[in-house]
Amino acid sequence: MKNIFITGGAGYIGSHCVISLAKNNYNPIIIDNFSNSNESVIKKLEIITKKKIIYYNLDIKNKKKLKSIFKKHSCYAVIHCAGYKDVSESCEKSINYFDNNIGSTLSLLDCMRERNVFKIIFSSSANVYNHGQSLPLKETANVGKTKNPYGNSKYIIERILMDLSNFDKKWSVRIARYFNPISNHSSGIIRENSKGIPSNLLPYIISVAKKKLPELRIYGKNYKTKDGTGVRDYIHVMDLADGHVAMIKNNRMKKGLEVYNFGTGKGLSVLEMVKVFEKQIGISIPFKFVKKRKGDVPASYCSPKKALKELKWKNKFDINQAMKDIKKIL
Ligand code: UFG
Repeated sequence: MKNIFITGGAGYIGSHCVISLAKNNYNPIIIDNFSNSNESVIKKLEIITKKKIIYYNLDIKNKKKLKSIFKKHSCYAVIHCAGYKDVSESCEKSINYFDNNIGSTLSLLDCMRERNVFKIIFSSSANVYNHGQSLPLKETANVGKTKNPYGNSKYIIERILMDLSNFDKKWSVRIARYFNPISNHSSGIIRENSKGIPSNLLPYIISVAKKKLPELRIYGKNYKTKDGTGVRDYIHVMDLADGHVAMIKNNRMKKGLEVYNFGTGKGLSVLEMVKVFEKQIGISIPFKFVKKRKGDVPASYCSPKKALKELKWKNKFDINQAMKDIKKIL
């Protein structure tokens, strides 16, 4: 069974990738410092996968210790999810974001190179695309004029990986540009569980539904979108997780670099999201409009055609199924 290292494997995306990897007979090995996740997720993953999960509590910037993990286990490929991910926070703490996200990636790449592991999947983001281009966004759309340090850190890492694969042909790099992952595994055992007040839309709505927060604050009501609120491409996190396995399986990750969008290709506004939540879950969500959030773009959705053509990957779950799975955690 092939070992797949997964940095940030206890986090929201990483933990769902662990399930998908195990289901597809890979052996996931988690490396996570639990800075924005909880160690209890490991037991939960063991319940879901019915397998013992190997994990290490480690900041991957600690090269010495990371090297020892690479020495201890063989590694077929690395899925690199670890990183800070809060857009607003990144505007206030940009140095931390660059230091953490870029620094940890360099440390990881150096350890991989030393151990002759050259296959990496990088968790990138729709945030790397330039704002104002025609939608849906294709992988060939312009990137780099990002609106916040979070997006910029992802863009810079993409550039590093591009140079790496350009100048050293041993590398096999897959860049996964995530659109907006939502929902949870159908068991309802694990979920998005970031510390502090949620900043993403669905976790915030869930907190309002649970009466932990009084009301949703909708950032902006006069964007040039279908109803004035922000439009995004919401993808079920299990579909996204399966996308990672599809990349690993495809052509055995042949050498070179490929970029894939992971989204549904459909845009949903904040108001539409509130409506579908209320309809499927049966809890009403009070909201008020507040001013636009710094760093936000009006609309973003992708063309997922490349993943369909090359990886035979397509989202299996729609927004209604995503809501049904969310209902299990309420
Ligand atoms: N929104 C609100 N109120 C909230 C939270 C969000 O109105 O309390 C709105 C936003 O303004 C936006 C939409 O809901 O229009 C989605 O916002 P999210 O914060 O859920 O998602 P973003 O698109 O801003 O960013 C997310 C992740 C990034 C990732 C990006 C990919 O936070 O990590 O999706 O597009 F890069």
